[in-house]
Amino acid sequence: MATSDRRGFLKFLAGLFGSGIAAIATVPLLGAALTPLIRRKDDDANLIRAIPEKDLIVGVPRRVDLTAVVVDGWTRSVGVVGAAWLLKKADGSISALSSVCPHSGCSIGQKSKATYGCPCHASAFSFEGAPLEGPSPRDMDPLPVEVKDGAVFVKWMRFKIGVKDRRPA
Ligand code: FES
Repeated sequence: MATSDRRGFLKFLAGLFGSGIAAIATVPLLGAALTPLIRRKDDDANLIRAIPEKDLIVGVPRRVDLTAVVVDGWTRSVGVVGAAWLLKKADGSISALSSVCPHSGCSIGQKSKATYGCPCHASAFSFEGAPLEGPSPRDMDPLPVEVKDGAVFVKWMRFKIGVKDRRPA
């Protein structure tokens, strides 16, 4: 092989090697740049650690804020995504109800020793979430709940407000 041919071949190999390195370095950068565009919107709706199970008293509802990583475009932050009313029953099972009122979306509080109430238009609900009075078109919205490793996890979900049938928002 002539010297000029050898140099040309070495240049070709060096170029090929450089291109390969550049391509490999680009993959993670592209992934990081495009991830917010391709991430499903409900990625933040996974089970959220809410409270240690031992902090719940049978028959006494407890309101908990649900905190999760919030992804907004390229920005990630930790914040409150919603709130739930947790209730431990005599058989040890735990229920979770969304604190969002199905009527117009106000935050439901505890009204009495046996009921929840909405301050906006006076809807009242039993601890099981059944409407007792007021304009709410349906029961309070139940949320999936799990107990793992001594902690209560809740899946935060939003539902359409002002409608009788429960539908994800
Ligand atoms: S928003 Fe709750 S009763 Fe209207």
